[in-house]
Amino acid sequence: MTKGRTDSLPMRIGILGSGKGSNAQSIFNAIGEGKLRAEVVCVLSDVEDAGILDRARRQGVPACFISAAPFKTKLDGEAEEAYIRTLVEYGANTVVLAGFMRMIKAGMLAAFPNRILNIHPSLLPAFPGMASWKQALDYGAKVAGCTVHLVDGGMDTGPILVQKAVPVLEDDTPETLHARIQIQEHIAYPEALALVAGDAVSFLGRRVVIGRARDEQGANP
Ligand code: GRF
Repeated sequence: MTKGRTDSLPMRIGILGSGKGSNAQSIFNAIGEGKLRAEVVCVLSDVEDAGILDRARRQGVPACFISAAPFKTKLDGEAEEAYIRTLVEYGANTVVLAGFMRMIKAGMLAAFPNRILNIHPSLLPAFPGMASWKQALDYGAKVAGCTVHLVDGGMDTGPILVQKAVPVLEDDTPETLHARIQIQEHIAYPEALALVAGDAVSFLGRRVVIGRARDEQGANP
């Protein structure tokens, strides 16, 4: 059970991503527009030519490819150590997974307790895993969306911070639905980070409470 609250620190974000980096861009934009009081200190990718690294360089943010071999779907072993070492060297205190296509394991969770966030393109707990927008379409869901949550070692589990819903339209294709969800992702991620940056988030079990949560004794840990 998660219990406690996020630390009140100047937010120094390390972003991990494997793809085009539109969510990373939304975070750069929110900081630039003064909507999020934070700094992106580095962007790391397990894909050498990922668009997210180019976006970081254009912002003047350190951008590093770090191989996560020999694993295909998780960040573990020496690769995990290299990621943690690099994040610490750049002074990150918050890890933002923005399309990072690997499971986060115990070492990284221990290095950044309650400070690793993920965005997932569904209204969790519906449709965890890959291509969630296609899962929603194939299932016949009428509403889809995105979720920003804390990472707890499960597959797309962890306390939910922000969710945004979108309608599924009759003529949607996987691509049109994903595009509609991504528009909301770009609002949801900065919003969730602003909550955590403002220390406005407490946890009680799986529940995220805005403000300070009270346990059974009425005391706050
Ligand atoms: C997003 O749809 C996100 O929800 C998922 O991976 C995608 C990343 O997109 N986890 P981008 O690289 O941020 O454009």
